[in-house]
Amino acid sequence: MRALILAACAVTVAACVVQGAEAPGFTRDVRPILQRQCQGCHQPSSKSGNLDLTTFEGLMKGGSRGPALPLIVKYLKGEAQPRMPLGGAALPNDQIEAIAAWIAAGGKNDSVATPADTISAEHPPTYAQPPVISALAFSPDGATLAVSGYREILLHKADGRGLVTRLVGLSERLNSIVFSADGKLLVTAGGTPARFGELQVWDTATAKLVRSVMLTNDTLFGGAISPDGKVLSAGGADNTVRLVETATGKELQKIGNHENWVLSTVFGVDGKRVVSVSKDRAAKLTDAASGGFLENVNLLRGELTSVVRHPNKDIVVMGGDERVPYIYMMDRPKVMKTADDSTLVRKLPRQEGLITSLAWSPDGKRIAVAGIAPQVNIYDADTGQAVASCKGHTAGIYALAFTPDSARLATGGFDGHVRICNATTGEVVQDFIPVPVAQVTK
Ligand code: HEC
Repeated sequence: MRALILAACAVTVAACVVQGAEAPGFTRDVRPILQRQCQGCHQPSSKSGNLDLTTFEGLMKGGSRGPALPLIVKYLKGEAQPRMPLGGAALPNDQIEAIAAWIAAGGKNDSVATPADTISAEHPPTYAQPPVISALAFSPDGATLAVSGYREILLHKADGRGLVTRLVGLSERLNSIVFSADGKLLVTAGGTPARFGELQVWDTATAKLVRSVMLTNDTLFGGAISPDGKVLSAGGADNTVRLVETATGKELQKIGNHENWVLSTVFGVDGKRVVSVSKDRAAKLTDAASGGFLENVNLLRGELTSVVRHPNKDIVVMGGDERVPYIYMMDRPKVMKTADDSTLVRKLPRQEGLITSLAWSPDGKRIAVAGIAPQVNIYDADTGQAVASCKGHTAGIYALAFTPDSARLATGGFDGHVRICNATTGEVVQDFIPVPVAQVTK
């Protein structure tokens, strides 16, 4: 046992200095590795090898081949096949040695209060009050409205008249939901703050989690799917933009051009470029194939929270702290040395509160703007004229989605209600709470 700990020290002298001669602990050393590298495939919604590595109990219970402790190191070293993490790079030696040393020291659970995870597809979350809505999306066939909940996506009939399915996963927060153009996949970007960032890929026909891709140690934001469906993008609290292959979950690019959290991403029409916006106030255009920086789309103003694209032109609208939605061409007609504003197409009117979410209608004609003020304003995208306002929310609005026919707009936010309004008149045609709320008796 001592020899193993020494071996771990030999590999990471720095770790030994920091940690003294203490044996690696589950909470500090082992669990973060499992969360980051393993639980994407070993979780209640997708138990590869029948093994759930999201909890200490799951690890003890093991998988198809029995208790996992005697197996793990073999799988990590490739002595048992297939090597873990499946399809990914082998873990660094110091991580393997830390796990080995922890097991050799008895494999104890030193976490004080990690209650077993009681939430699963069979036991979906229960709510005492409606959770804040952070993401909404209509399926391309117009049949379904996907709504974010706590650790789940709720699939509702698009008219708001019935809950159809609940897709329960690991991420506590789902910051964005998008359907693939063919409607077969539903992709979320989110995570659990200060623990992990996750992209989830769901099969809409079977309501099964196809893939969970753990990318960072904090939440992901602003997920998007390339027009051909092959690549996913998202921004992170680690200031990066990640590009991931949809079919495999493989990370294609980790792009570090921003200096602060990246809150929203969108692909250009041909899928070859990505625009990302950040709290660093920049909107950056990046080459998706190489990850190379192309140019700044905007002139720096306030922090940016949202960017969306015209349905079939390389024009984007972005907004944030400054409260003004700016419509920009994605590309500059000629290369400019210094940033100028020649690609600015139009500004929309200043909003009453910070902008949190934007949506461009699928017919290209309307732009909806949501923010901390409890009302969504809809504008004519060509003239910038105000068309209508959707009212009824009692607090900030964080999520917007137009129906595929552009006739209606779903809105959601702090008060936990989904409201569906007529996108021409602003009239609220449906208002519902998307989660089952338990009757609390005192
Ligand atoms: C990309 C998906 C994926 C990732 C990531 C992954 N695994 Fe696995 N794991 C699998 C699959 C699939 C199996 C079943 C393999 C088989 O039986 O052929 C498996 C099997 C196992 C088993 C054997 C379980 C049993 O009893 O049969 C262990 C142990 C294991 N994985 C550990 C890990 C650890 C530890 C990590 C993280 C370092 C990890 N895995 C990451 C997909 C993954």
